[in-house]
Amino acid sequence: MCGIVGYIGKREAYPILIKGLKRLEYRGYDSAGVALISNSGDLNVYKAKGKVSDLERSVEAKDVSGHIGIAHTRWATHGEPCAENAHPHYSASGNLALIHNGIIENYATLKERLQQRGVKFRSQTDSEVLVQLIEYIQVSNDLDLLGAVQVALHEVIGAYAIAILDKRHPEQIIAARKSSPLVVGIGRDNEFYLASDATPIVEYTDKVVYLEDGDIAVIRPGDELKVVDMDNTRMHPTVKTVDINLGQLEKGGYPYFMLKEIFEQPDCLLDCMRGRINIDADNVTLSAVIDHKDKLLSASRFIIVACGTSWHAGLIGQQLIENYCRIPVYVEYASEFRYRNPVILPTDVVIAISQSGETADTLAAIELARKQGAFVFGICNSVGASIPRATHTGAYIHVGPEIGVASTKAFTGQVTVLAMLTLALAKARGTISQDEYVKMVRELVAIPEKMKEALKANEQIAQMAKIFTYAHNCLYLGRGYCYPVALEGALKLKEISYIHAEGYPAAEMKHGPIALIDSEMPVFVIATRNGMYEKLISNIQEVKARQGRVIALVTKGDTKIRDLADEVIELPETMECFEPLVVSVPLQLLAYHIAVCKGKDVDQPRNLAKSVTVE
Ligand code: F6R
Repeated sequence: MCGIVGYIGKREAYPILIKGLKRLEYRGYDSAGVALISNSGDLNVYKAKGKVSDLERSVEAKDVSGHIGIAHTRWATHGEPCAENAHPHYSASGNLALIHNGIIENYATLKERLQQRGVKFRSQTDSEVLVQLIEYIQVSNDLDLLGAVQVALHEVIGAYAIAILDKRHPEQIIAARKSSPLVVGIGRDNEFYLASDATPIVEYTDKVVYLEDGDIAVIRPGDELKVVDMDNTRMHPTVKTVDINLGQLEKGGYPYFMLKEIFEQPDCLLDCMRGRINIDADNVTLSAVIDHKDKLLSASRFIIVACGTSWHAGLIGQQLIENYCRIPVYVEYASEFRYRNPVILPTDVVIAISQSGETADTLAAIELARKQGAFVFGICNSVGASIPRATHTGAYIHVGPEIGVASTKAFTGQVTVLAMLTLALAKARGTISQDEYVKMVRELVAIPEKMKEALKANEQIAQMAKIFTYAHNCLYLGRGYCYPVALEGALKLKEISYIHAEGYPAAEMKHGPIALIDSEMPVFVIATRNGMYEKLISNIQEVKARQGRVIALVTKGDTKIRDLADEVIELPETMECFEPLVVSVPLQLLAYHIAVCKGKDVDQPRNLAKSVTVE
C-alpha cells in the first residue's frame, strides 16, 4: 500500500527521502509528500498529487534543507488522491507532522470526538485523525511526544505504520507499527533510516531492525535505538543484516522493471534452487522439511492460503502435492478463508504464499490457522516481512526484490518452491518412485535453460501484441497444470493493459463462455503436447467453428495445431507438471507488450499497489 521513508542524521534528508520514495513507489503512487525540519527550525510540509516526480517538481525553489525528515507515497484508501489528502498530515498547531500506512478503522468516531472539542481537519483521510489525536492528547495532558503517542495508540483500532516529527524536537523521530510493516535502518555515522521495507535503506546500511506489532521506536542520532511498547516497557529488538544488492533495485537497461523481471527468471530460479538441489546426488533438500519433518509428514491435509497471483501458484501447488504426495490439498483465497469460519484441524498444515509477505488477508488467515492449532508453512519473497515472521517455518523463494507491480518472477519462484516442497515430501512419504523422483529433479534443474528458450519468442510476441491491442475482451484457456497459468495470463493482461480477460479450464468453455466467442475475440490456448493434447485440439476446433481467433502456445515442432490456429508460439518441451514455469513466460511477455503498445504505465498500473497491507 503506501510507502514510508524517514531519515535523521548528519546528511541532508531531502535527497535521501526522495530517492527512498522512488524505491517504494511500487507500493502506491496516487500522491506523495515530504516533511522536513529545516535548518532554521521550520516544519516544512510539501505534498503533490501524482508521482514522486510531481512532488519533486512542486518543491523546486522551496526550502528543502534539514537533517531530519519523513516522506510518504500514497495509495488512497479514505479520500480521493489530491494534495490535501496526501501525507504528511500536520497537527492543528503546526508542530507535528505524521505519515501513516494502514487503515484506522475507528477514525470516524475519533474524528467526531475531536471535532466536538474544536479540532479542525484539513483532509478526508483516516490518517489525519492520528496526528490530531496525538496533539490533542499531548496538549491536554501535558505529555511529551512519546507519552502522547502511547496514549493515542491505545485508542486506535486498525492497522498502522507511522512516523512523527515534532518541530520543537528536531533531534528525534517517533515511529510505531501494528499490522503494517516498518523497518529501521541503523546507519554507519550516528544516523537512522526508516522505511516500509528495506529497499530504500540498503544503499546506506545493511543493519536493520524489523519493528514488531506494538513496537514504538524513539529514533535519536547519537543514542542507541530505543524501542518500547504502548505501556512503556522496553523491548529488545534484534538487529538483522539484509542481503539485497543495489543492482537488484535498478532497471539495468530495461525500459520497465516488469520486462527486466521477466528476463531475470532463469537466473532467479537458479537462485531459488541454489543450495536446495544437489544435482550430483539428484536430491532436493529444504531445511524446513528436515527441521519440521514430523509436522509435515503427519499432515492430514494441506490448506493453501494466498491472494491473486500467489493464489494461482497455490493452484499449481495443489496439483503437484496431490499428484506426487497423495495428500489432500485445498486452495483458499485468504480473504474468504479468514471470514468464513473454516474447519481447521490441528493436523492441518497451512501453506501461506505471498511475494510481499505483507498481504493483510494472508496474514489474518495465518493468525486464524495458528489460533486453531494448525502448523503454518510460509512461501515468501521479502525476507523478514510480516508473513515469514508469523509462520512456524517456510522457504523463501529468493528471486530478489520484485518491483513491477504485476508479479512475474515471484510467481515462477513460488511454483519452483512448491515443486521442491513436493519432491522433498513425496520422497519422505515414499509416494514417488526413485526413477520418477530423479527424472523430476533433473527436469526442474533444466527449467531455467528452457525458460531462456521461451524468452526467445520475445520479438515474435512484441509483433503479435500489435494485432491484439484493439481487443476489448480476451479468453485464456488451459487444462490441468496449465489451467492456473491461463488464470494468471488473464490476470496479467487485465492488470497492466486494462483489457478484460478471463481464464478458464478449456473444457468449461462450452458451459458458458463459448457464447462470447466471435471474430473479435482473441482466445489464447495453452495447447502443449501433454496428456490433454487431443482434448485441447477439440477445444480449439470449437473456438474456430465460432470464428474465434486462436493464439496457441504449443510444444516446439507441433504441426497439428499450427494448421488450426491463427498464431502459434512454440515452447520447449518439458514434463507436464513443470509446464507452468515455461508457459508463463510468453503470457507475461504478451501482457507486457500489449500494455506497452497501448501506452500504459506497465510498472505502475492504475489503482494497483504491490503490497496490499489493508483488507
Ligand atoms: C498480480 C499481483 C497480485 C498479488 C496479490 C498477493 O500481479 O501481484 O495479485 O499476487 O496482491 O500479493 P502477495 O503475493 O504479496 O501476497
